[in-house]
Amino acid sequence: MAKEGVQIGLLGLGNVGSGVMQVLSANREAIAAKAYGPLEVKRILVRDPTKARGAAVDPSLLTTDARDILGDPEIDIVCELMGGLEPAHRYVGEALERGKQVVTANKELMARHGHALLAEAARRRQDIYFEGAVAGGIPIIRPLKEDLAANRITRISGILNGTTNYILTRMAADGKEFAAALAEAQALGFAEADPSYDIEGRDAAYKIAILAAIAFHTPVDVERVYHEGITRVSPRDIVHARDLGYVIKLVATASEEEGAIDVRVHPALVPTGHPLASVNDVFNAVLLHGDAVGDVMFFGRGAGSLPTGSAVVGDLIDVARNLRFGATGRVACTCHFNKRLREMAELHTENYMRLLAVDRPGVIAAIAGVLGENQVSIDSVVQKGAQDNLAEIIWVTHPAPEASFRAALARIAELPVVHEICSVIRVVR
Ligand SMILES: NC(=O)c1ccc[n+]([C@@H]2O[C@H](COP(=O)([O-])OP(=O)(O)OC[C@H]3O[C@@H](n4cnc5c(N)ncnc54)[C@H](OP(=O)(O)O)[C@@H]3O)[C@@H](O)[C@H]2O)c1
Repeated sequence: MAKEGVQIGLLGLGNVGSGVMQVLSANREAIAAKAYGPLEVKRILVRDPTKARGAAVDPSLLTTDARDILGDPEIDIVCELMGGLEPAHRYVGEALERGKQVVTANKELMARHGHALLAEAARRRQDIYFEGAVAGGIPIIRPLKEDLAANRITRISGILNGTTNYILTRMAADGKEFAAALAEAQALGFAEADPSYDIEGRDAAYKIAILAAIAFHTPVDVERVYHEGITRVSPRDIVHARDLGYVIKLVATASEEEGAIDVRVHPALVPTGHPLASVNDVFNAVLLHGDAVGDVMFFGRGAGSLPTGSAVVGDLIDVARNLRFGATGRVACTCHFNKRLREMAELHTENYMRLLAVDRPGVIAAIAGVLGENQVSIDSVVQKGAQDNLAEIIWVTHPAPEASFRAALARIAELPVVHEICSVIRVVR
């Protein structure tokens, strides 16, 4: 006989899986009321059943064989919290094939295969919910798909990676070098032993690709999303930026203009009065603009066991309601168009540039001349003192074609008076 309530099979019981179990247990009755019946976890897939877990779990629920979940006709919802592409992709595909609903927090899976999976789910009138995949505990997928559905979204900008935001916050507050701030983040558990996924901007690229796909109703090829990490940001740049009225953040942006989209992740100077400028430590935020609603900002914990558990359980409740009312497949695929992704070279960008040049008259004019020849006009230029006959000069440009600015940069680097271009960081307003 079928069990009472909605039956869930969890794939994974790590950070997020344990958070899901804790939330389901702590708020059991209220969740059952909201879902019109209890949510029961029937089986949990892990690699190592002997491992200590972050949540109290009946050991008889654990299995190392995915078939115990995918092949169980009583399981209504498969909740994928394993991470990585394979076997997660295969299991989610199989769950759909077997008529099960899917909840996942896997950003890589959704950024790379979301379009195909959502289209398949829509064809089958089944659900795939993935609120936990972007910005952890912050609600953003559902607001974009549902609450803000009346709007034409023109722009999204966000701080979508807590690890890099923590590192940049420590560098700004304590004057730490990047490597020291990274080591501190690792010691506190805010950065992985291999931090490359976060610090090179790939994690944020997956997330902004997912948000852009939903906001602009188009598939986004995440391989083509420009991403640049924070490894070259120095405390000197942070201090100079502050003097000029900016903070440095790893910013993910997506916008649409004339039917083409611009999606990217890179460090950016953000004016101190900008809503994202005061988002510090491991916090995340998403700021978006809709033609009817205006600016809306979402702020909160972008990762962690319980915050992500909150998002995943919210999805489970929604899917349980859909099952209850025979309404699955309601909000599956929203990619109704195929929009072109603009190349970086096509964009207009403002840039901050710090360089060391020979300290003598005419040098600033020579560099300004090269910028001018390439149609790049200057917003401000400041000389920050001299050492060993070299002057440190800080430039901020007005918006100009990225390709023109890069061409100017190549020429400036070759000027005999220029010793070194130390850093170049775009400005985001
Ligand atoms: N951590 C966060 O704050 C956060 C936030 C938002 C989204 N997410 C996403 O949520 C997902 C899970 O992240 P997490 O931090 O919870 O990962 P995690 O701590 O590494 O947990 C992964 C779990 O999946 C199990 N697993 C992995 N591969 C498996 C396989 N081939 N067969 C059976 N079991 C397997 C592991 O089993 P064992 O325990 O036996 O090793 C573990 O229980 C990822 O997609 C991640 O991107 C995480």
